[in-house]
Amino acid sequence: MSTIKLTGMDQHIDLTLEDDVFSQPNLDIGPIKQAGWFCYDPGLTLTTACQSGITWLDGAKGRLLYRGYPIEQLAEHYCFTQVIYLLLFGELPSEAEHNAFTDQLSTFNPLPENTLKLVDSLPKHSHPMAILSSLAANLSVNYHHGENDYKNPDVQQEAVLRMIAQIPSMVALSNRHTQGLGLDAFNSQYGKYTEQFTYNVLAKSATDTPTKELVEALDKIFILHADHELNASTFTVRTAGSTGTNPYACLSAGLAALWGPAHGGANEACLNMLKAIGSTKNIATYIQRAKDKEDPFKLMGFGHRVYKNYDPRAKIMRQICHQTLDIMNQKDHPLFDLALELERVALEDPYFVDKKLYPNIDFYSGITLSAMGIPSELFTPIFALARTTGWLSHWLEMYQTKPFKITRPRQWYVGPSQRDVPKD
Ligand code: SDX
Repeated sequence: MSTIKLTGMDQHIDLTLEDDVFSQPNLDIGPIKQAGWFCYDPGLTLTTACQSGITWLDGAKGRLLYRGYPIEQLAEHYCFTQVIYLLLFGELPSEAEHNAFTDQLSTFNPLPENTLKLVDSLPKHSHPMAILSSLAANLSVNYHHGENDYKNPDVQQEAVLRMIAQIPSMVALSNRHTQGLGLDAFNSQYGKYTEQFTYNVLAKSATDTPTKELVEALDKIFILHADHELNASTFTVRTAGSTGTNPYACLSAGLAALWGPAHGGANEACLNMLKAIGSTKNIATYIQRAKDKEDPFKLMGFGHRVYKNYDPRAKIMRQICHQTLDIMNQKDHPLFDLALELERVALEDPYFVDKKLYPNIDFYSGITLSAMGIPSELFTPIFALARTTGWLSHWLEMYQTKPFKITRPRQWYVGPSQRDVPKD
């Protein structure tokens, strides 16, 4: 710990600089309040907005830990429901704890009857994220009653487990509706979590069972997307939660933020970009557009607000992509070859090298999900399914840590000074 001495406008203020667990120095700017100063930090990229023990990432070295465990080890040796337990409760479950947990999750399905009627009433051309957002709001309709005490740990846990249990069915339901698959095969209890989801999304008939390899690939994709520190949607969930609103409304807020193409919508946007590029002979043109400040085009799947090194999830996602293409007999998938060549060209281009723009997780997830036969509109809902665990782990942590304060940043005002309305 060290002290920073600030002097300005006849003020002398001592600020404390303290290391976190990984020796990341944090400046506590609380004392500037006495001077009436604010800190200007657009996008909050230099701001640590809370203390958290859930996820740690090192953008410079491309490292990612969930509750201290490297993402590589979790993706290789654990399943998603074990990682859900870890993120929610802080420790990996024993076999008995894991079995009891998955049994508890299955008690929250099937979805209430009015949910199916709500989906049936929505236009078939709706984007699945729009349907998912409607279903999240419907959770408040079905389960939020004015007297719910969300400070009560039992009430918190029931709401959290219900959302984590039901989000796969909500995503699958939005897909079956928009793909005209009907709801008859839906909800029949087929298997545990990811197995049940894969069946509900891909089954064309009650006997159309997904392969074990496909379920495992999707399960790893869920692990990679489960949490990621204070990304835009997680910070949105924390901001909504800081007002004391119900957790179902916080889920709706997270979905809205994740939907953007700069965030969770990038996987769908990346696949659409690869389709637009179409052939390796067009790569140079698109690379040039991405570098042109006058052109709003960005290379989807490249760059990251924090990672200035290879996204550790992208490395694992690339392997899953290779494996899935083999499983689905699509190893000559044209978009995959195009993606590999685009990655090679971009990683050799000084613009991307100098700006430390590397492929992020979205670069390969779109191709992988597409090879599984999953429609591109469902990519972001699948991201949301996994990130629901991260969002709700942060929501729980807010109630378990002090200070619990409503999020309220200030602004740097650049508008007109005070003036009087025109005399008539
Ligand atoms: C996710 O925050 C998270 O953790 C998010 C996420 C999670 O798990 O929650 O990791 C998931 O959202 C991954 C990111 C997915 N989005 C995309 O792939 C969309 C394409 N990427 C860009 O939109 C962009 O890289 C962002 C939004 C991700 C980051 O934008 P920043 O913070 O502006 O990036 P930067 O500060 O590193 O940019 C440095 C320069 C800028 O140019 P200059 O102002 O220096 O001239 O690089 C440029 C940027 O304009 N740049 C790009 C680019 N990304 C940044 N130029 C071309 N193509 C790109 N993709």
